[in-house]
Amino acid sequence: MQTLAFENGDTLPIIGLGTWKSQPGEVHQAVREAIRAGYRHIDCAHIYGNEKEVGQALNEALSAGEVRREELWITSKLWNSAHAPEDVAPALRQTLSDLGLDYLDLYLIHWPVAHKPGVVFPNSGEDLLSLEERPIAATWAALETLVDEGLTRHIGVSNFSIRKLQALLETARIKPAMNQIELHPYLQQNSMLAFCHANGVHLTAYSPLGSFDRPEAFKAADEPVLLKDPVIVEIAERHQASPAQVLIRWATQRGTAVIPKSVNPERLRQNLAAADQELDGSDMDRIAALDKHRRYVSGANWAQPGSPYTLENLWDE
Ligand code: A2P
Repeated sequence: MQTLAFENGDTLPIIGLGTWKSQPGEVHQAVREAIRAGYRHIDCAHIYGNEKEVGQALNEALSAGEVRREELWITSKLWNSAHAPEDVAPALRQTLSDLGLDYLDLYLIHWPVAHKPGVVFPNSGEDLLSLEERPIAATWAALETLVDEGLTRHIGVSNFSIRKLQALLETARIKPAMNQIELHPYLQQNSMLAFCHANGVHLTAYSPLGSFDRPEAFKAADEPVLLKDPVIVEIAERHQASPAQVLIRWATQRGTAVIPKSVNPERLRQNLAAADQELDGSDMDRIAALDKHRRYVSGANWAQPGSPYTLENLWDE
């Protein structure tokens, strides 16, 4: 399996299992199956509400000797309600306790958005704090101490724009090692790719298959279905692959990690097997032409009336 290398020599298996939207009751089996199938990278987050069950599965696999802890790469994320510096270590400790682990491989700031203390999801703009009131730099300094204490091997961010990443790179003692963002052929973010490449920051592609299982309330009526895109389907047929495999392989050929979610044993094996496929230059060119700057995860939840966040200042575009 292709890997991404970090400055200290650690390596991240480029295809990981996504667990966003994997329900308690189904994620346990998915993680057990994934480890048996050869996944060594699992992407988690406190807000997904399933870390305890993921942890049970991880610990069963570890105790059964199916895998050793040092062979696994476990990522998790700090939720928006825990950006206050004094809340950061307790949030990570909760995640470690839920996952049944002593350390994480990677801990990310989930969004460049802060909620008032105790607010899990904002009901109104009043529930949010601006980045002036709750600066990212202070949250980041608290994450840096987690690395010092050995509670996570690496730290990074998610949903950060180039501008926010640049600001953090200028002040950080420990550089963000990762930006996890929505990336797929309809949202290719080539300038972000170039910026991260130039600055030694890795990218992880979330929603690589278009996250069709998102709650209906978050879907736009005219939403294009990435897995049914005629160009993707045609390339898949020619390679005797599935459309999902083409999307995953496209991500890895661009040098980004990718975390397709599946709770289905056959599909999660199929997704991992995309590592063995190869798209040629003309496939990559045809896919490059599909870019339409289409976000499936719009961030509109943070840009409610009265919120300090707007879609413009969230994405800086
Ligand atoms: P399931 O979990 O039932 O397999 P994303 O990773 O972009 O969030 O997309 C996840 C969605 O894609 C889920 O609905 C998941 O369903 C589905 N999915 C995952 N793998 C495949 C695949 N190989 N073919 C088709 N759909 C897939």
